[in-house]
Amino acid sequence: MSDPIHIVLLPGDGIGPEVVSAAVQVMTSVAKRKNVDIRFEERPFGGAAIDDVGNPLPDATLKACKSADAILLGAIGGPKWDKQPPDLRPESGLLRLRKELGAFANLRPVSVPAALASQSVLPADRVAGTDLVVVRELTGGIYFGEPRQYGSEESFDTMRYSAIEIDRIARIAFDQAKMRGGDVTSVDKANVLASSRLWRERVTRLQVAEYPDVSLRHMYVDNAAMQLVRDPRSFDVLLTGNLFGDILSDLASTLSGSLGLLPSASLGGDTPLFEPVHGSAPDIASQGKANPVAAMLSGAMLFDELQLSELANDIRQAIDQTLKKGISTSDLSDPGVSTSYFTDHVLKALDAFTELHPSF
Ligand code: NAD
Ligand code: IPM
Ligand code: MN
Repeated sequence: MSDPIHIVLLPGDGIGPEVVSAAVQVMTSVAKRKNVDIRFEERPFGGAAIDDVGNPLPDATLKACKSADAILLGAIGGPKWDKQPPDLRPESGLLRLRKELGAFANLRPVSVPAALASQSVLPADRVAGTDLVVVRELTGGIYFGEPRQYGSEESFDTMRYSAIEIDRIARIAFDQAKMRGGDVTSVDKANVLASSRLWRERVTRLQVAEYPDVSLRHMYVDNAAMQLVRDPRSFDVLLTGNLFGDILSDLASTLSGSLGLLPSASLGGDTPLFEPVHGSAPDIASQGKANPVAAMLSGAMLFDELQLSELANDIRQAIDQTLKKGISTSDLSDPGVSTSYFTDHVLKALDAFTELHPSF
């Protein structure tokens, strides 16, 4: 028998543990039915790890992550740690984890099936059929650029990109486009920023040299924010730097209706990392209100990456069926059901697949 798949869980803070627990239940259920053996290993990370050992990314956690087949992260951060020095904030643990893993490519898909378009913040007829992916550069740009300095009178950060960093993330975006609608929108602020001028130059050059069959347009980030709301169906792949992708992906979550729906995959390093787009949501933590869909769909992306697409598709189908029945948490409907009630319904939908196909 082959070794079990080794998945490190980093539940983190706030709603992180609630949504990871829901995702693990669903992942365990689909894996069992398809006879896939998984070993989950939970490790402290973020604020929880600061409280435990004084470090948001303890050495043992990083070591476990590096030796795993994949990592599933909940969320980190919260007001409790907001006054810590920068290196001792949960967020710096997350940035270091991404960097240590070499996970430079963050894929954030957003799709709005017609049957669920009424959940959107926008009119259903404007968003129905939206199907885009934000390809966000994750280990460079202003998040990591040096020099950086905090001072009470003046502070600065540096937005910096090398040609190598731009080329490798652009390649991921073009490759995604080839598997999807064949269309890349590269987002920058080349009318103002030097780093964006290089970005635009390299992306253009790469398209001409290696991807003549993919169509490319460039868009300033301010316009991109507006067009995402005005005409979301005009996007296929959105290629962005670290900061612009962070902002635009939260904005794009309103198309499907909630930040609690958006999963992501952070790829390019030795161990792939899967993380909901949302944060630790301190305002609803420990109340059973969290939407677990983003974490469950992150689990589905994990299975896709490990070539277990049947498991991934089962998760997606069970979630779709549950949402289509009108069962959803309070971020999507009023008053909304609890995290555990929603999760039980996804598990029931999965059980029904087994009854329909007893050979599983
Ligand atoms: P947030 O994403 O945690 O929450 C924004 C809003 O969306 C809140 O009203 C929250 O209740 C709601 N929301 C988010 N996820 C939800 C879900 N699954 N179900 C229902 N509602 C949900 O962003 P924030 O409030 O700006 O940040 C809170 C903390 O999370 C901060 O410390 C921030 O640094 C951290 N953060 C962490 C990550 C991460 O771990 N990947 C991502 C973003 C923010
Ligand atoms: C995200 C988060 C993180 C980011 C923070 C918590 C460091 O907002 O994953 O979107 O900005 O990348
Ligand atoms: Mn973010």
